[in-house]
Amino acid sequence: MSKDIYFLMFSIHGLVRYENMELGRDADTGGQVKYVVELAEALSREAGVKRVDLFTRLISDKQVSDDYSVPVEIISDKFRIVRIQCGGKKYIRKELLWPYLDEYIDKTIKFIKRDGVSPDIIHGHYADAGYVGSELANFFGTPFIFTGHSLGRPKKQKLIAEGMKDDEIEKKYHIGHRISVEEEIIKNADMIITSTNQEVKKQYGLYANADLVQYSVIPPGVSLEKFYPYYHDMMAEFTKDEESLLAKASVMEELNRFLSYPEKPVVLSLCRADKRKNISGLIDAYGKDKELQAMANLAVFAGIRKDISSMPDNEQNVLTEMLLLMDKYDLYGKMAIPKKHDFTYEVPELYRITAERRGVFVNAALTEPFGITLIEASSCGLPFVATNDGGPDDIVKNCKNGILVDPMNPEAISSAIKQLVVDQEKWKEFSANGIIGVNEHYQWSVHVKKYIEKIGPFLEKRRKPVHKKYSDNPIGDRLTRLKHFIITDIDDTLIGDDESLNEFVDLIRRNRDNVGFGIATGRTVDSAVQILDEHGVDTPDIIISSVGSEMYYQKPGFPDKGWRTHISKRWDRKGIKSLLDQFDFLTYQEEETQREFKISYYMDDEKDRIAAIHEVLLNHKHHYSLIYSSGRYLDILPYRASKGKAVRYIGYKWDISYNDIFVCGDSGNDREMLEGGPLGIVVSNYTPELESLKGRKRIYFSKTAYAAGIIEGLGKYEFI
Ligand code: GLC
Ligand code: MG
Repeated sequence: MSKDIYFLMFSIHGLVRYENMELGRDADTGGQVKYVVELAEALSREAGVKRVDLFTRLISDKQVSDDYSVPVEIISDKFRIVRIQCGGKKYIRKELLWPYLDEYIDKTIKFIKRDGVSPDIIHGHYADAGYVGSELANFFGTPFIFTGHSLGRPKKQKLIAEGMKDDEIEKKYHIGHRISVEEEIIKNADMIITSTNQEVKKQYGLYANADLVQYSVIPPGVSLEKFYPYYHDMMAEFTKDEESLLAKASVMEELNRFLSYPEKPVVLSLCRADKRKNISGLIDAYGKDKELQAMANLAVFAGIRKDISSMPDNEQNVLTEMLLLMDKYDLYGKMAIPKKHDFTYEVPELYRITAERRGVFVNAALTEPFGITLIEASSCGLPFVATNDGGPDDIVKNCKNGILVDPMNPEAISSAIKQLVVDQEKWKEFSANGIIGVNEHYQWSVHVKKYIEKIGPFLEKRRKPVHKKYSDNPIGDRLTRLKHFIITDIDDTLIGDDESLNEFVDLIRRNRDNVGFGIATGRTVDSAVQILDEHGVDTPDIIISSVGSEMYYQKPGFPDKGWRTHISKRWDRKGIKSLLDQFDFLTYQEEETQREFKISYYMDDEKDRIAAIHEVLLNHKHHYSLIYSSGRYLDILPYRASKGKAVRYIGYKWDISYNDIFVCGDSGNDREMLEGGPLGIVVSNYTPELESLKGRKRIYFSKTAYAAGIIEGLGKYEFI
């Protein structure tokens, strides 16, 4: 079933590389980066997987390593990291990437086309890559999987609770845009993968579209080589490398220097110095309980610190409070507050030392989204006491090696800790359960097996194409394989003479494997589809409608969103309309022809009128294109829109050379499409607006009219 799957994974922001990931270097390079690299690698090791490509952003910037400027990093014959450039080459934070994601999409299409293999699954991580992934999944007709890692709505709630103002949040995080993108992603995704059940309910649950998608809770894996059980160290035959021995010695030293009785069990806490981690709650619990103090020491590792007075407010407050509480409860000799630790080597050692001393790991956070430290501690054989809010609930259900408590209740915390310190049988049982549980539930190999099982049904019913009649492949597959493209105007070019139209329809059908068919019309998309239907013309691959102000694939419900974003720049419909309404020689066209990016009038062809329009629009600094056709239609479009510009965009996006695109027309609104670079064909019944194109290179004037003229032109170019 899952034979030979080709995965495209997208994780766009941050610094992504395979070796020496720079986790924690900045806000964009953290847990997600580690997650996607480990997931991609584990997937690529599965037998049924053909290949995994992890797409990220290409960065060439002196501020960061050259590694991030390598377009294709080959990890194995089944796993590559592919870097695609967008928004320049500088390293910029994720909140600033939004305007460049369509560029990212277009360049990824090119990569896929040149690579020549169509994907089977597309998986986006975080909203930015979710947008990119869901667009590409539309094009290539693949299932689309999404993992948020973090979401805008809960983040906004949190920031508001912390007292940040709406407009401040907007300015710094562009969170409104992020949230609306997330709503769309949730609507379009086939499946969302989360690490915990709480994420589904409390985070995705905040979204309007939350119920429209299927969720799978599949927790990530931990590295078992690093987080191995504490008793391995105690076995004579187990040899440890020098680096780990050194790490162990230095952690021990760092810990012991605070403690009068270092051999006692340790109550260990390890987290960022963040208010939400509730370190003060834990110290309160310990400080108030003399019995617990007699039984065990407390060690709080709260990140790395040098000079507290020069740290950011949040951390400074947390650390100051920690010191004050230590003093208040007089915990000298019982409480260790080490200043530094190294994550890669020392943390696993710390868990093992704590386990050797029959200690307990505590996470008293007010809320804990996942709880990776709990899993890592468990993997080393260290039982835990943890907050009952969030991910720890899942971990306890899976591993049965911890006690959940209300983080606001100090007695509950200390009594849970004492249970584990006092009851050695229970401690041993929990310790063993943790090791076994992590093996069973929190390994990447387990994760990917579940993942592949879950996507099975989607692979089987790979989205069917919209219109069987013309295309039985997803549009993206088609467009990356086509050799040629014919794009024609409808009225008085394609349609006008039924006999030659039928001939043309046959010609397109015979060549459909190699030749794409598009239309470029002044009509709206609905009216275009309707008239083509009435004339028995097969569904086009591409519909450029409303004079190039809109673009669709195969049907009105499938717009090219990149085009919309591209042309919307500096467009002021209202402003332009109110100026033009003042001309009494202009008659506003019927409502149904008016579009967000198209303002249309009727205007008889008289001298100086067009110049007058230009003058008033330019005086008011408007950006627009003016298109006059058939001696009676006047269309005002955004500066970047027109049939010709739309055709060139298609050529760029789908990597089709101008020499392989034929464009056909009869009137003024076809003019700049005909002169734009592709091979032009003008049918003999053309309007005088095209007269001046005569004699131009790459524009052929047919002697025959309507569809016959198109066929004649294709023959002249020796295409048929
Ligand atoms: C179609 C449209 C009209 C437009 C004209 C020329 O007739 O309906 O709105 O002005 O084409 O582009
Ligand atoms: Mg026409």
